[in-house]
Amino acid sequence: MTTQKIGVIGAGAIGQLMFNLIATQANSQTSTAVYLIGREPSSHSNTLQFTDLSQSRLNRTVTVLGQNSSELTELDLVIICVKAYQVNNLLCDLLPKLACHCHIILLHNGMGTHLNAAKHLCGYPKMGLSLATTSQGALRNAQWQVTHTGNGQTTIGHYTGQKLANSLIDCLSQAIPELLWHTEIITALWQKLIINCAINPLTAIFACKNGQLAEDRFAKHINMIVKECIEVAKADGISLSLPASIEMVYKVITLTANNISSMYQDILQQRKTEIDYISGYVVERAAQHQIAVPANVNNQQSIKALEIANRSNAT
Ligand code: PAF
Repeated sequence: MTTQKIGVIGAGAIGQLMFNLIATQANSQTSTAVYLIGREPSSHSNTLQFTDLSQSRLNRTVTVLGQNSSELTELDLVIICVKAYQVNNLLCDLLPKLACHCHIILLHNGMGTHLNAAKHLCGYPKMGLSLATTSQGALRNAQWQVTHTGNGQTTIGHYTGQKLANSLIDCLSQAIPELLWHTEIITALWQKLIINCAINPLTAIFACKNGQLAEDRFAKHINMIVKECIEVAKADGISLSLPASIEMVYKVITLTANNISSMYQDILQQRKTEIDYISGYVVERAAQHQIAVPANVNNQQSIKALEIANRSNAT
């Protein structure tokens, strides 16, 4: 039996979680091997600490494939878990190094990278692209230490090119809890985008945990943001219900009440945020359709101002 090889790129909390979930599954069968892909030119090994949901701690020695590694050409699937704004450059560098049949899965917050990725893939007719979103909870405690903090749904769906092989679908389905294969992945991504448009900028602007957004003073903001998103999605051919979307936003606010959203964390740690792929994607699509989206424009501008303030404080 040939071994199917999976690479995971992006060593943030979600990248390390996905790697560990697949590695746990791969351990129980010899037909799958999983690697991390690093940014350094040559391969090296690393010890990853993984704490699972039952608080069991496991140290795992992993191979991190370097950018010049010939083993990149043997991968059947690469799961890309970097920030949305890193995807385009990464694909430019990585695609020429992969096997001609390799499948790509993009997994990050926000939307928009799929449009450029599809253009890149035109030059690789045997490759395929799937898109994914996840609500799995993970916390990176140190550079190579990750804790699985809670199960949540992961949704994957085919977007363009060749379809993902059934053996890889089976492997991921066994490895990732609550995995849903969605035939309308763009609809699923819009649903998650709406949650991120409502929660992420507001928590960063008002410097609060997700749960505080349940306060009455935020209701008008949240309603407006979601209403604008629904209108733009509709113009893009995606029909979503306003009451169901608002209900979903409040459900996530409650379920993640103690979380510091990824955008608020980025602002606190003076990092670039994914705003251009969250509110910014809605603003961009709205401009195409000539729809006014003042609440999302305002959020994008406010987050940009916070990023600029962070940069000038750092210099
Ligand atoms: O980006 C995040 O933080 C998460 O996607 C979410 C769902 C808003 C929860 O914090």
